[in-house]
This record gives sequence, C-alpha cells and structure tokens, in this order.
Amino acid sequence: MSPCKDETPGILRTMQILGIETSCDETAAAVVKDGREVVSSVVSSSLAATQRYGGVVPEVAARKQAEYMVPVLRQALGDISPSEIDAVAVTQGPGLIGSLLVGVAAAQSLSYAWQKPLIPVNHLLAHLYAPLVSGGVFTFPVLGLVVSGGHTLLVLLRSHTNIELVSETRDDAAGECFDKCARVLGFPYPGGPDIAQLASTLSGTSSLSLPQPLASEDTLDFSFSGLKTAFLRAHGEGRTAGELAYALQEAIVAVLARKTERALQQTGARMIVVGGGVSANARLRDVFEEVFKEHVLFPPPSLSTDNAVVVAARAFYSGSSGSWDNVSADPSLPL
Ligand code: KG4
Ligand code: ZN
Repeated sequence: MSPCKDETPGILRTMQILGIETSCDETAAAVVKDGREVVSSVVSSSLAATQRYGGVVPEVAARKQAEYMVPVLRQALGDISPSEIDAVAVTQGPGLIGSLLVGVAAAQSLSYAWQKPLIPVNHLLAHLYAPLVSGGVFTFPVLGLVVSGGHTLLVLLRSHTNIELVSETRDDAAGECFDKCARVLGFPYPGGPDIAQLASTLSGTSSLSLPQPLASEDTLDFSFSGLKTAFLRAHGEGRTAGELAYALQEAIVAVLARKTERALQQTGARMIVVGGGVSANARLRDVFEEVFKEHVLFPPPSLSTDNAVVVAARAFYSGSSGSWDNVSADPSLPL
C-alpha cells in the first residue's frame, strides 16, 4: 500500500497504521506513520515468566499475551483517536498458535469496530523492514537474511510484493543453535547475547575451531544441528567456556556470511538486508560490514528483536489490505 493521494492533486496524505505483534513471547503494539515515522511503540515480554523453564512455554506465553494485550494497546494508542488510524496491521504467522490468536483477535476487533482495513503481515518479512524505519532505503532486488530464534532463511525481494524464498535451514535455526549451546554453558534462555558477551572477552584467536556446516557445499541451505553436536563434544573434552563461545560465534557468522555471499552472486541482488534477533550480534555486523560494505543494511538494535513497529512498516509497503473477517492466524505461514 502506498501513501493515499489527497483530493488535492500532488499532495500526499500521510498514512498512520496501528501494528500488533504477538507471534511468540512479546506482546507489542505500535503506531507508525508512512512506514517510517514511529509515533509510539510498546513491547511487553513474558520472558521472565518462562525463563525458569529454559525456554518459551507456549501455553504460558499465550496466557501472558491475553493478559498484556489490552494494556499494551492502550499505552500505544495513548491520545490517538481511532479516526487518526488509517489501518490495523497484525502478525498472521509464523509463530505460536496460542500467541498469534490473541493478536489476530485483537486486531480483528479493532478493525471491525473502527471500520478500518486489516492488513495481515508475515512475521519474518516484518523483521526485514526494520532498517527502513531508521532511514534505510531498499534498492531492488534485495536479498533478505532472516536470522531469529526459530528461523534462518534467505529471501529475494524483487519488489515489496514480488518475494521468493531462496533457502532455509534444514534443521536448527542460528538463534536456536546459540541458545542450545548457551544452555550447555549454564546460561538462561535466550543465551545468544551471553555467548556474544563471553566471546568478546576472548578477542583475537582461539585454538579451537568448530565445523561450518554446508559452508563449502554448493547448496544455499543452512544446517546448524551438527555444529551443536561438535560444540557438545568439545565441551566434553574440557574446552573452556570462553573458547567454546568464541568458536561457536565464529562458525555461525562464517556460515551466514558465506551463504549470503553466494546467494548474492546467484540472485544478482543489489543489496542485503539482515533481520531477526541474531542480527543484534556485533560480530555478525562487523563481518557483514567488512564483506558487503555499504551494500548491507542492519536494523537499529532496538528493532532487532520482536516489536510491532516493523509490522506496521511492512504493512505500509505490502499492498495487501482486507476486511477484518478475511485474516486468520497461521502458525506455519509460508512467505
Ligand atoms: O527474532 P527474535 O527476537 O525472536 C524470534 O522470532 O525468534 O530472535 C531471538 C533470537 C534468540 O535465539 C536469541 O538468542 C538471539 O535472537 N539473539 C542473539 C543476540 N541477541 C539475540 N544471538 C546472538 N547474539 C546476540 N547478540
Ligand atoms: Zn522474530
């Protein structure tokens, strides 16, 4: 959807979208103008309630979504009246079904009551729109790398509406590999940031190197479960936590960079955009900026993890807009 033309020729009316995100354990709402100007953004996480279980517990996450949804919406809307909202956007999937249902039901209710269009958004694509909010510009074709706790994939955007999956992981996601290995070292969920912190204390080199699964093979697919096994083996051999964290991060970042570089050559994309929680990793940013220079865009750190700003931003460009009764939650929504 592009900015709507005002009756006066040549004058563009701004478009204000309310975004709602509830795919996992964050309950988020945001109001965004024209896909790039953040009017308000609220994120409430149920992580603390599930951390002692060592990961997200779907039933607990869904109950917390239901508890937080209305207060989060109230706070995000503040003094904004429904007449100032042009459309409601919501994460349709992929994600946890119980969590998704809360956001979709809330969005449907508002869309119906306010008589505004409802725009369904794919959570993975939404992650790729974070850089646009901080002033970034897409030069198509764009190669998107989504690296989150549940997904690792490459996607080609020929335009905002012509989008194709390039490759994905055959087993674990990169974030999942960080989290599972962090758990072995005794860190709470999600352990990605702890691994990154520990690895940074061992700047320079380490005698330990872990395998880079599929890195030198022709495929653009990813695989991280073998790396987790190698990590466990090295841990059993008595390697220090610092060595293990450093080697793990190096292996994951190297695989991501290699596959992205190969995909860039094969697709002829003109730039790369990285999204998802793992995009907060400083080493990943350094390596990508070294390899791809000014051709790579990263989200601002505050928009790396789950939020509703990117939902409203993606909705603005998605070109799809429908009725409240035409959207349903889909836990395994394809691209
Ligand atoms: O996108 P996200 O917030 O949630 C999902 O949709 O999955 O991603 C969460 C993932 C977790 O696996 C977490 O460990 C990882 O992002 N993560 C990191 C860092 N910050 C978050 N992984 C490595 N280094 C980081 N600095
Ligand atoms: Zn996410």
